[in-house]
Amino acid sequence: MSSAICVLKGDRGFKCEGVLHFKEEGDKVRVTGEIKGLPKGKHGFHIHEFGDNTEGCISAGSHFNPLNKNHGAPEDKERHVGDLGNIEANEEGTAKVNILDNLIKIKGPHSIVGRTAVVHKDEDDLGKGGHELSLTTGNSGERICCGVVGFCKGN
Ligand code: CU
Ligand code: ZN
Repeated sequence: MSSAICVLKGDRGFKCEGVLHFKEEGDKVRVTGEIKGLPKGKHGFHIHEFGDNTEGCISAGSHFNPLNKNHGAPEDKERHVGDLGNIEANEEGTAKVNILDNLIKIKGPHSIVGRTAVVHKDEDDLGKGGHELSLTTGNSGERICCGVVGFCKGN
C-alpha cells in the first residue's frame, strides 16, 4: 500500500502548519490530517505542479493539470488533477482534512509526490464564480500555507 506525507508551513506572514497523509484506498487516494493557524472559513486546497518552494509557495507553479482541463470541483469531470476543493477552518483556525479523491495518485503519471500541496487565503469557487480566474485557480487568492509531498517509509 503506497502512502505519502506532506508537512505544511505558513507563507506570506501566515503562521499555519500542518501534516497531511495520503493513502491509497482501492483506486482512490484518501487525504487526512490537520492544519492549524488558518483564518476561520473555507480555503482553496490544491496540488500544484512543482515541488519547488524556493520563493515560498509561489514557486510551486500552477495547479497540477496533466490532462489539460479547466479548473473545477473535485467531483467534476472538468477539473485539474490537483483540484481538491476547499478545506474549512473552525473558530480556532484548525481545519481537519478527510478527503477521498478519485484522480490524484501516489504512483504513476498522475502522482502527486514531488509536487506541492497548497492552502489558499480565500475560498475556491470551484470554477463556478464567473471571475476571470475561476477557470484557472478558482479565484482562491494568496497561497498562505504549503509543503512538498514526499513518499513515506515502505515505498
Ligand atoms: Cu492552489
Ligand atoms: Zn485547479
